[in-house]
Amino acid sequence: MSDTKPLDRREFVKRSGTAAGGALLLNTPVAALAAARQTIPSRGYAAIDTSGTLVPWSFERRALKDNDILIDIRYASICHSDIHQMKGHWGPQQYPQVPGHEIVGIVAAVGKSVTRFKVGDRAGVGCMVNSRLEQLDGVENEEQYSPDTVFTYGYPEADSPTGISQGGYATNIVVRDHFAVHIPDHIRLQDAAPLLCAGITTYSPLMRAKVRKGMKVGVAGVGGLGHMAIQIAVSKGAEVTAFTTSADKVADIQAFGAKAVVVVDDPAKLAPHQGSLDLMISTIPYQYDVAAYVALVKPYGTFTQVGMPERFELTVNALGLSASRVNFNASLIGGMAETQEVVDYCADHQVLPRIEIIRADEINTAWNKVVIKRARYRYVIDASTF
Ligand SMILES: NC(=O)c1ccc[n+]([C@@H]2O[C@H](COP(=O)([O-])OP(=O)(O)OC[C@H]3O[C@@H](n4cnc5c(N)ncnc54)[C@H](OP(=O)(O)O)[C@@H]3O)[C@@H](O)[C@H]2O)c1
Repeated sequence: MSDTKPLDRREFVKRSGTAAGGALLLNTPVAALAAARQTIPSRGYAAIDTSGTLVPWSFERRALKDNDILIDIRYASICHSDIHQMKGHWGPQQYPQVPGHEIVGIVAAVGKSVTRFKVGDRAGVGCMVNSRLEQLDGVENEEQYSPDTVFTYGYPEADSPTGISQGGYATNIVVRDHFAVHIPDHIRLQDAAPLLCAGITTYSPLMRAKVRKGMKVGVAGVGGLGHMAIQIAVSKGAEVTAFTTSADKVADIQAFGAKAVVVVDDPAKLAPHQGSLDLMISTIPYQYDVAAYVALVKPYGTFTQVGMPERFELTVNALGLSASRVNFNASLIGGMAETQEVVDYCADHQVLPRIEIIRADEINTAWNKVVIKRARYRYVIDASTF
């Protein structure tokens, strides 16, 4: 772009009718800055160390480029991954860092090459925001496996003023249009937010396993991901058995449609279910006895780990895996086409997360509740409180 020279804000607004070249809406100050290709002020909550305590923080987003959209965030929900990453469970981090990759809002500005979105559209952003590739034509549907993909927070991003991508616990976000999805009108924005990570992460392995009527699916760990896994599998006709360590979740889990609930307060509780499942999805976020849960899958069945413990490490038992020749894998979110698919599917079939709306100043309390398994089942931050 030629228009990269910083403009005085008042001067810009005066000239904005022509300066934008028709590319952008100029109804908000940030949209005006976007039109001027200037960095965009944002306000949110950031981690500044590994303590797991976030603080209010003002920062600059990268300037909008031709293929980008600017989204005014309305809601961002809390994923356990936010907590893992900010606490350094997955490796050292650059701080300040704004977490959040379940993001919904309204498009406030679009770059001049954007055709998929227009100002005023409802849009969602999940775990990916950009690519280092100029042309995306050759990118397969599984963008999460591309080495060029920029994930939503903490990823090196050359043109970000902070040097890394900054996530969605904030007032706005700049994202390459390819990495945003449309949020249909028949789902509330706050209900759509958790679908951008918890939804796609559980939908994708279920679809890969061709979940269908009568299939026996296990879900281990009933938090944000787990409660979506149950509801999606049930909506596809599967018979779901949920494995929880929280006895007080049983009634909720039954309401989500699970046929059976096992409260795993003693490993012996697993024994009666050995060899009973076609597919198990484990969302458990810390070390656990993987072998005991693998034994629940039928010979040649599938076990998919989506929980991501510290250092991403899990201890598996070779004999346990061989005993049923189980297909053991781990799965990372899902591609953009499939993310749009799960959002549409959940809107169409009213497969919705159970959410609790919180203010920004309640984030730290909410994080603690997630860690001690008290979330029921996804906290959604009202972005107007940032
Ligand atoms: N693979 C991916 O692409 C992907 C995407 C998003 C998230 N994740 C990961 O998935 C995991 C779950 O995320 P989430 O947001 O759903 O977390 P969450 O809301 O905290 O739910 C996790 C559930 O696992 C159970 N649990 C927690 N700690 C446990 C422990 N020490 N031992 C046994 N069970 C335990 C609890 O369920 P019960 O009370 O029912 O036992 C808890 O509610 C995290 O590790 C996250 O990083 C992965």
